[in-house]
Amino acid sequence: MKTLKFPDGFLWGTGTSAFQVEGNTPPCNWTKGAEEGFVPEIGQACDHYNRFEGDFDIAQELGHNAHRFSIEWGRIQPSEKKFDADEIAHYRSVIQALRKRGLEPIVTLWHFTIPLWLLEKGGLESSLFPEYFARYCEYVTNELGGTVHYWITINEPLPVANNGWLRGSWPPFKKWWLDTLFKGFGYPGKGDRKRPTGSFLTYLKVRRHLARAHNKAYQLIKRNGRDSSVGIAKHTIYYHSDKNLLNQFCAVFMNWFWTYSFMSHVHKQCDFIGINQYFDKEFGREKSLPKTDIGWEIYPLGLFGALSFFKRYGKPLYVTENGIADATDKSRTLFIRDNLREVHRAIQVGLDVRGYFYWSLMDNYELAEGYTMRFGLVEVDFETQERKVRPSAYEYKKICENNALTVEE
Ligand code: BGC
Repeated sequence: MKTLKFPDGFLWGTGTSAFQVEGNTPPCNWTKGAEEGFVPEIGQACDHYNRFEGDFDIAQELGHNAHRFSIEWGRIQPSEKKFDADEIAHYRSVIQALRKRGLEPIVTLWHFTIPLWLLEKGGLESSLFPEYFARYCEYVTNELGGTVHYWITINEPLPVANNGWLRGSWPPFKKWWLDTLFKGFGYPGKGDRKRPTGSFLTYLKVRRHLARAHNKAYQLIKRNGRDSSVGIAKHTIYYHSDKNLLNQFCAVFMNWFWTYSFMSHVHKQCDFIGINQYFDKEFGREKSLPKTDIGWEIYPLGLFGALSFFKRYGKPLYVTENGIADATDKSRTLFIRDNLREVHRAIQVGLDVRGYFYWSLMDNYELAEGYTMRFGLVEVDFETQERKVRPSAYEYKKICENNALTVEE
């Protein structure tokens, strides 16, 4: 047996996002989408808004030393002119609850939900979006400054634009006629609800607004930010190919299109980069690989590939999401172990990876899939809100507590 040690101070934990776990999400693009029948209702979710203390007890018991969560924009800013101090107080107690248990908070300022009032002003398509976003971030980080060191501005800008404006599976459900081209990197829209027409130009505009929003927010946070470190969580797909020239070209192009072309606009305004990684795409792959419940192929080398894209920016890296939908928990332990082997390998070749956040702490509202996909280390019964720790969580616990993974030679 061989022990793969991780660097001292390595952050170990899980991630969640507000609207996927809190319950009673205030009116936003996702609740509107549910009312219109595009996506399942969110409802009570895990009732985490009221049960966060108990959930953090579980995370602590599972040996984690950090936790990533997000703040619900519509709670903080229920209308354009109103910022809600009571909700700030709520998130302050969330942060305190983490700190009390020795869990470092990694706070995402925006994870997919846009308050209704901003949607009425054009949402992400409006050129005012970056300004609104930056002001919201400035308010939150001023109020909570000093209690949080790590801030993530935006979670996964590319899937937001891709699934919302090309594939039609996420708000505002716009579908471009060539959406099949983008099959590899989105969730297909569910049901036969007719979708509004998308356009590639609007998609590109949304991407630009997202990059600007991050950059503006970064500047405002840093202007006031005491000892803070600000980054972005970038969904990353490792595109690669067989030896066929055309396939090689496709892989190079797609890595540029999905990762480098966006990162080139934001990397200078990042103190660290978060990498969310779930699957790869190999052009010319002949045999399909085993799949997770959601249909994503399992290919741990994809995490190594994804991490290696970011070496050029010279910033600390965190795996801010990596996980598997596995209701039976049969494959989760191996998935985590294999992926962590790749993280360790990345560190060995000189990548500055400083943390790993399994997605997710518990089963949650899985976006267009509703409550059917089970990513949690903890199983949730959505009727009774009972939590049950899955066996894989205890395997992950050993790794977190030892700051090391033991493998066969
Ligand atoms: C998102 C999460 C989501 C996960 C699994 C990621 O792309 O950031 O919100 O739950 O994928 O579908």
